[in-house]
Amino acid sequence: MSNIIRERVTSVHHWNDTLFSFKTSRDPGFRFKNGHFTMIGIEQEDRPLMRAYSIVSANYEEELEFFSIKVPDGPLTSQLQNIQVGDEVLVSRKPTGTLITDNLLPGKHLYLLATGTGLAPFMSIIKDPEVYELYDKIILTHGVRYENELAYQDFIRDHLPNNEYFGEVVRDKLIYYPTVTREEYDNRGRLTDLIASGKLMADIGLPALDLEQDRFMLCGSPAMLKDSCALLDGLGFKETRKGEYGHYVIERAFVEH
Ligand code: A2P
Repeated sequence: MSNIIRERVTSVHHWNDTLFSFKTSRDPGFRFKNGHFTMIGIEQEDRPLMRAYSIVSANYEEELEFFSIKVPDGPLTSQLQNIQVGDEVLVSRKPTGTLITDNLLPGKHLYLLATGTGLAPFMSIIKDPEVYELYDKIILTHGVRYENELAYQDFIRDHLPNNEYFGEVVRDKLIYYPTVTREEYDNRGRLTDLIASGKLMADIGLPALDLEQDRFMLCGSPAMLKDSCALLDGLGFKETRKGEYGHYVIERAFVEH
């Protein structure tokens, strides 16, 4: 059996000039955990051109969904951004990743810290009913430069809280905190600064960070991850390492496409 599955694009959505997302068919044998990424791509001159993408869809959904930036000279995204319904996309059969709740010590609050397309794996996680059983509050943050980069807002604010099966627990437990750095918006500033100053926790009505209660998943640029890890380490939180559970896990947002 080949490690690459050929799927068909079923819909494409352009959020703005720099971001788009698309859905594909899903091989019934393709299994993944919420928060995982896999390699996806297109056939190019007889060989596959593949890059890592977090999976936006939850593992119980019938289709796969991916969220991407458009890099004008990016080998893959310069082509992928023109993708149409019916086109073929290659999907690796081997999803993997660290952003799964199994990788964390138990806790009370799960902070999902995303910048840019780092939101993608957390879309899968907030659609997972089991996550709501593990935590009292799940805080989905999304840091972007401009407001029009706040993708999936309608889904997070309106659609998911009205989910017929677990909308009620979403309304009770999910806190959404978008923040914009380069223009006016309700919440302003970098996530790292908002956490360091305590403003984020104050704004959402949660207590100051605490080693016993708070857990984190981080997904963003290398610079965002570096600064966020330094901040959390400085507060005494430990990253999960091989064989040793900690308070936080990280994954690079895959952007150099
Ligand atoms: P800023 O506008 O101050 O650079 P990018 O598109 O560069 O990945 O940025 C996405 C968001 O992440 C922006 O709001 C950006 O803020 C923010 N950001 C960039 N670098 C860092 C960092 N080192 N720590 C925290 N946030 C960052």
